[in-house]
Amino acid sequence: MQLSNHPLPASPTSQALPAASAPQQDATAFSRHNALRRLVRCLFAEGILDCSALVFAPHGAAAWFPLWDQHALLYFSGLWAAPAATYVLTGTVTLVKADGTRLAIDTPGQLIDLLAPRFDFTPSPESLAGLHDDVANSVANDALARSHRAHWNQTLRQAMEATGARGLVDHLRQNCTLREAAVLLEQWGSLEGHPFYPTWKTKPQLSPAEVAQLSPEFDAQVPVRIAALRSNMAYVERMPHVADYRTWFAERFPQVWQRWKDGLAARHLDERDWLPLPIHSWHLDHYVKDAYAAEIAEGVLVFDGPDIDTRPTMSFRTMVPQLPSATPPFIKLPLALWLTSEQRSLQAKSIHMGPRISAVIERILAQEQGFGHRLEIFPEEVALHYRHAVRQEDRPGRHLSVAYRATAQALDRNDGLLPITVATLFTASPVDGRALITELIERPLAGRATPEAVGVYFRQYARTVVQPVLAIYLLYGIGLEAHQQNTSVLCAEDGTPRGLLIRDFGDGRTFAPLLEARGHTLQPYVHPGILPTVFRDDIEPVRTFVLDACFVCHLHELALALTHEYQLPPTWLWEILREETAAAFDAVKPRIEPSLWHAERTQFLEAPWPTRSVLRMHLQQYADYRLQHHLPNPLAALQPSAHG
Ligand SMILES: Nc1ncnc2c1ncn2[C@@H]1O[C@H](COP(=O)(O)OP(=O)(O)OP(=O)(O)O)[C@@H](O)[C@H]1O
Ligand SMILES: [Mg+2]
Repeated sequence: MQLSNHPLPASPTSQALPAASAPQQDATAFSRHNALRRLVRCLFAEGILDCSALVFAPHGAAAWFPLWDQHALLYFSGLWAAPAATYVLTGTVTLVKADGTRLAIDTPGQLIDLLAPRFDFTPSPESLAGLHDDVANSVANDALARSHRAHWNQTLRQAMEATGARGLVDHLRQNCTLREAAVLLEQWGSLEGHPFYPTWKTKPQLSPAEVAQLSPEFDAQVPVRIAALRSNMAYVERMPHVADYRTWFAERFPQVWQRWKDGLAARHLDERDWLPLPIHSWHLDHYVKDAYAAEIAEGVLVFDGPDIDTRPTMSFRTMVPQLPSATPPFIKLPLALWLTSEQRSLQAKSIHMGPRISAVIERILAQEQGFGHRLEIFPEEVALHYRHAVRQEDRPGRHLSVAYRATAQALDRNDGLLPITVATLFTASPVDGRALITELIERPLAGRATPEAVGVYFRQYARTVVQPVLAIYLLYGIGLEAHQQNTSVLCAEDGTPRGLLIRDFGDGRTFAPLLEARGHTLQPYVHPGILPTVFRDDIEPVRTFVLDACFVCHLHELALALTHEYQLPPTWLWEILREETAAAFDAVKPRIEPSLWHAERTQFLEAPWPTRSVLRMHLQQYADYRLQHHLPNPLAALQPSAHG
């Protein structure tokens, strides 16, 4: 395609907060706009409002949405009609009434109230109030994080000036180990949160001070208690190479193990009867002591024990231990806290399936040489949950559980590849406020990248992500939830993406017939009332998982960001993504049954893409966690968009 210069509105998107110190007021205005942008996007994408009613100006990016019954128009000064029914608010919103009066719609609450009567269903008053509250809470937390960010970025800029680094990645590469750089980038990159969730930073149970004390975007340090759970009161799932949890823990956390044993000895307890159980400090004080009072009284759980310092990763509840020695695993913990949309428990299904899926993937990666050395994982080596020896119920263990994620292979590398969590690539650089990925794209260049250079980079990126994700899906029926927070890109010294590092397998979806046809088995977790994640009859739920996480929330999002940043032709990057997706299908074609290959190719390249209806789910108070809608497939035979 011709690389015409196709200007897009220059107003800021979420990633464009100026790097310089921003007063709280500016941060709040920015965060409100962030919420408006998310609401507008979800309302149209999910069909809650009819996007075909939008009228676009013949030139420029303005649009009107008629509110006939109110004899009024909603005026968007900038609305980018991007592929896949993605309407990105880049300007302001104004209500224009019949008498010509104009009312600025600056807050998400105003927008919700104004548009609720036009929704394609009638939300209950409680659900509307819930949305109001959660969005307002997100805005407040987002603004706080952006104020904090101004200071953090200032500190980083000073350090960078002292070393003469060209950018943040350059600085970290010069001054840290790859592990340290990867962990810092993960925390620093947690500013934006999920790319379009309207309640992206909701933490309704936490005060602003607690949000700052516990969240990765505040560079938080959080104590984790190493409590003790009676050995016969636990279900332990291990990868095959782990012979015994206690021995494994003693090897991975030698000093902590010693302190933990000493603590038990001081209480005259025989340490051989107990298992170390990490508990997040907030969870311990605000939930465990009360909710498990009976277990504590019965002598099932001893909540005293040594504390270790940890740093939260982007998911808030997976913790990086700050221990002087060795390479401790990451610790994933339950939290009785609503974050974004869910209470972050760690249920038995995730405990059972995480190590099992990790083991299957490791065997596959060994057989397939990592699909051309492009795919690596953070294996979940050991996981356990409380299960009473007599009552044998799994459910009570969902808030008394842990999963350990091995990190040595992934982070202690000698190939120079730096793992960068994908969300971090979207985060504004401390140097110039542009998305960090621009530093990687422009690393070998002098100055701003040309559209051609961006195209070359995006092609390499798409190839790196799509090839392994589709190969393991099509060949083995394994769906990787490769969204921005579960995926790190392994970047070479020159910024080029070379591979993927995936985490979070507890809720991973698989299609058993494909896996079994290649000689692997995966024992499913079966429990009344728990939705299955190993599917037999239909591959659709697995495909949806891949399309939603990897294509909608990750690759489409990257295409949007780069198209906007570099003012690229409206559908060009999606054309590249189409070519790379088609190439990934071609790469495995000889090994796949033809009807499956054709059917899947159609689903990825032509059919509408299924994706989770995040706003509708919220408005229906999460009565159904599997609500989905379809987006026009942005890779389907590309028609130049009328409003592009
Ligand atoms: N860019 C992002 N995309 C998706 N989720 C994000 C993003 N940034 C932050 N998050 C947060 O990460 C979490 C994603 O949920 P998910 O179930 O994948 O992870 P998890 O199981 O809680 O933890 P982990 O990935 O550490 O195993 C949510 O809490 C969400 O708010
Ligand atoms: Mg995750």
